[in-house]
Amino acid sequence: MEFSIKNTQAEKQRNDCVVVGVYEPRKLSAAAAAIDQASGGYIASILKRGDMKGKPGNTLMLYSVPGTASSRVLLVGLGKERDLQEKEYRQVLRAAAKALVNNTVGNVTSFLADVPVGKRNIAWRVAQLVEVTSDATYRFERMKSKPADPYTFSSLVVNVPVKADVPQGEAGLKQGLAVAAGMELAKDLGNLPPNVCTPTYLAEQAAELARSYGYQLEVLEREDMEKLNMGALLGVAKGSRQPPKLIVLQHNKGPKGQNPVVLVGKGITFDAGGISIKPAAEMDEMKYDMCGAASVLGTFKAIGELGLPLNVVGVIPTCENLPDGDAVKPGDVLTSMSGQTIEVLNTDAEGRLILCDAITYAQRFQPAALVDIATLTGACVIALGHHATGLFSNNDNLARELLKAGDATFDRAWHMPLWDDYQEQLSSNFADIANIGGRAAGSITAACFLSRFAKEIDWAHLDIAGTAWKSGKEKGSTGRPVPLLTQFLVQRSSGQ
Ligand code: BES
Ligand code: MN
Ligand code: ZN
Repeated sequence: MEFSIKNTQAEKQRNDCVVVGVYEPRKLSAAAAAIDQASGGYIASILKRGDMKGKPGNTLMLYSVPGTASSRVLLVGLGKERDLQEKEYRQVLRAAAKALVNNTVGNVTSFLADVPVGKRNIAWRVAQLVEVTSDATYRFERMKSKPADPYTFSSLVVNVPVKADVPQGEAGLKQGLAVAAGMELAKDLGNLPPNVCTPTYLAEQAAELARSYGYQLEVLEREDMEKLNMGALLGVAKGSRQPPKLIVLQHNKGPKGQNPVVLVGKGITFDAGGISIKPAAEMDEMKYDMCGAASVLGTFKAIGELGLPLNVVGVIPTCENLPDGDAVKPGDVLTSMSGQTIEVLNTDAEGRLILCDAITYAQRFQPAALVDIATLTGACVIALGHHATGLFSNNDNLARELLKAGDATFDRAWHMPLWDDYQEQLSSNFADIANIGGRAAGSITAACFLSRFAKEIDWAHLDIAGTAWKSGKEKGSTGRPVPLLTQFLVQRSSGQ
C-alpha cells in the first residue's frame, strides 16, 4: 500500500473512493458536510432514511454521488462525537479498511484523520491510520498453493485538516510506515509454520536485515555456546535436531561510545513442552513461541526504516523445545553461563532457560537498558487476557518509559509487581534456583527467575503471551509489541 499526506477537499477528489466520517446521531463530520453541500444535500437525505446512523464501525458505500469527482464515497460511522477515543478511532479505521478491500477500489482518499480523537494530535492520528489500515489489509498467503488475488486497494491519501498540519502529518506517516513494516515482518515470522521458521531461518532473516540496513550481525553456533558455558540454552536445545542459534544484531547509529539499548527476544520456534509435554489441543499455536524474537527483528526493521540515531543491540536465543531420548529431563540440573545452577523441575518452563543465558551474554554490551520480550507464561494470559502485555522491571523509571511508549502507541502494557517476597518460590533443594515457582503468580515468578540474571543492569521484561497472537477464527500474529518497542527507542533517541 502506498500512503501519502495531502491537504485537500473531499468533493474534488478524482479517484475511486473518498472516505468520510458520520457521527451518531446523523451528524456530519466536516468532510462529510462538504460532500453533502456539493451534492445538494444527498448525504443528509440518506441519513434521514436511517440506513447510516453513525454507529462506530458501520459503513455505507455510495456510488456516483452528485457534485463529487470521486466515483465512490464511503461513509463510516464514528459513534457519538464526545465518545470518540483511541479504541473507537481504531475500530473506525479497521471498519473502513475492511469495507475498502471488499470493493474494487484502487486509489482512495481518507478524511478520517481529520476528526478529533481525545487529546491525540495529527501525527498520532495519521500514524494510527497507517498502522491499523496496514494491519486490517494484511493477509498471510505464503503457504497457499493458490494465493488469493491481490487487493486492488493500493494507494491511500491521508487528508489533514489544514495546510499547516502537513509537516505533522508527514511525521506521523513516517513513523506509521516504519512501525507497519516492522509489524508485518513480525507477523510473517510468527505465522510461518514451524517446519519453515526454524532457528536457522530466523538467523537468515537477521542476515537479510543486516544487508538491508547495514547492521552488524553475529550468529553464535552450538560450539560457540559451549565455549561460553551456556548450559541453560544448550539444555533446552538438546532434544531437537535443529541447531540452536544465538543471533546478535547491532544498529550503531547513535553517538560513538553511547551505551546501547539491548532487546532480547525469546525465539522458541516450537514449544512442545519437552519431556513435560503439553496437551495436544492447540499445540500448533506454540509455533508462536518465537514472537519475542520476531518483535525484535520487526523493531530492527522499523528503526532501520527510521534511521534512528541510537545504539541498539538485538540478542535472540533460538531453538526448539521437543521431547527426545536426549532431551533435558525433570530433575536435571543445568549450569547457566552466569555460573548459577538451575534445577529443571518442568521442561516446559524453557523460555526463562534460554533467556537467562542470553541476558548474561548481553551484559558484555554494557547496556544502558535491557528489555527482554517473551511469550513466557500462560499465567500472564490468565492475569491480563489479550489486551495488555505484562511489564516487570527492576527499575521504576525504565518501567515508566515503557508504559508511556505503550500508551503513546496504544500497544499497552501493565506494570506487575516484582517484589522480593515472590523470590522464595524459586528455591531448590538441589541447585541454586528452580525453574518453576508453583501455580501461584506464575508470570511473576517467571520474571523473578529472569531478574536473578539481571541484577547489575537496568532491566525490564515484557510477557507477551497474551498479546502476540490471536487464537480462534482470526488466528494470527498481531505484530505486537513492535509499536511499543519502536516508540520506546524513539523516545530514548530524543531524550524524552
Ligand atoms: N510458551 C509457553 C507459555 C505460553 C503458553 C504462552 C500458552 C502462551 C500460551 C511457556 O514456555 C510455557 O510453557 N510456560 C509454562 C510454564 C510453567 C511450566 C511454569 C506455562 O505457562 O504453562
Ligand atoms: Mn514451554
Ligand atoms: Zn515456551
